[in-house]
Amino acid sequence: MPNFEDLRKEAAERIAQAQDLSDLNQLRVQYLGKKGKVQDLMKNMKNLSKEEKPQFGKDVNALKQHVASRIEEKREELAEAEMNMRIEREKIDITLPGRRQTAGNLHPLHIVTQELEDLFIGLGYQVIEGNDIVDDEYCFERANIPKDHPARAMQDSLYIDENNLLRTHTTAIQMKVLEQAAPNLPIKVVCPGKVYRRDDDDATHSHQFMQMEGLVVDRHITLADLKGTLEFLARKMFGQDRQIRFRPSYFPFTEPSVEVDVTCHICNGKGCPTCKGTGWIEILGAGEVHPNVLRMAGYDPEKCSGFAFGVGIERIAMLKYGVDDIRHFYTNDKRFEETFKRFE
Ligand code: DAH
Repeated sequence: MPNFEDLRKEAAERIAQAQDLSDLNQLRVQYLGKKGKVQDLMKNMKNLSKEEKPQFGKDVNALKQHVASRIEEKREELAEAEMNMRIEREKIDITLPGRRQTAGNLHPLHIVTQELEDLFIGLGYQVIEGNDIVDDEYCFERANIPKDHPARAMQDSLYIDENNLLRTHTTAIQMKVLEQAAPNLPIKVVCPGKVYRRDDDDATHSHQFMQMEGLVVDRHITLADLKGTLEFLARKMFGQDRQIRFRPSYFPFTEPSVEVDVTCHICNGKGCPTCKGTGWIEILGAGEVHPNVLRMAGYDPEKCSGFAFGVGIERIAMLKYGVDDIRHFYTNDKRFEETFKRFE
């Protein structure tokens, strides 16, 4: 005959020693499980006489219940202890100051882009952004820069494969716009975006920067329209007293081409370090859209004409805010960026 008393004592001791709920669960399986020690006792049944069997069954059941209630008691005890430990561990001090949420502010390049966009939207222009990755055709060929053209060397860029590259100028957006609009008139768009060039970074150069390009095509569009538009731009960005001047220049996609200077907004044209003593600051390149460009996009240059300009957003931002190094825009120094809160 099994010794009920021993088994009861053994179970009680082991239950009392259980460290945590998982220990206890193992004991429950060991004693009360289908193949557990208590169930095992039933195997003795077959050796017993008919008279002994009922009593034996009762004893096994009593043991089962006894062990079960011990386990339940211990479970409650352990659960409470664990809860107390958690409460202790997860204590929070509600008198500590909270974590401050800092609100960000617009990046200076974003502020300038928005200001330029607003200005041109007010003149009836559409804002169109393109993809950063373009193919050779739209970046160069359509802009009248064939494969062997020396202007390609100046804009050597980051090629994805033989035919696709990160756009070297927003002119690539214009070329798509022109083709998609042809032969409808008028076209009035500004195209802002990031551009990429192989370059050695220094205070005024960055291999990635931003441009905004303008394009107008209609009947009888002349350099006078361009001049009026750019004068408006210069005055909005740098003050009502600004004058502009055109200097002859060269771009493959415009003819004639000009560089545009604006009178220095620091010294009012008298000459100072910002304008290197000349009284003038160069702000952008522009010109009359080259007939080849119009023709390639599907327009007849005999029947329409246009002007285009391309402005560097960083350059405008540097002049406007007196920033001395283009790299400030990209190094994510919060002290620099927070300065621009007041311009939002
Ligand atoms: N694409 C020129 C550049 O990357 C800028 C430019 C000059 C754009 C004259 C124009 C333009 O549309 O007419 O430097």
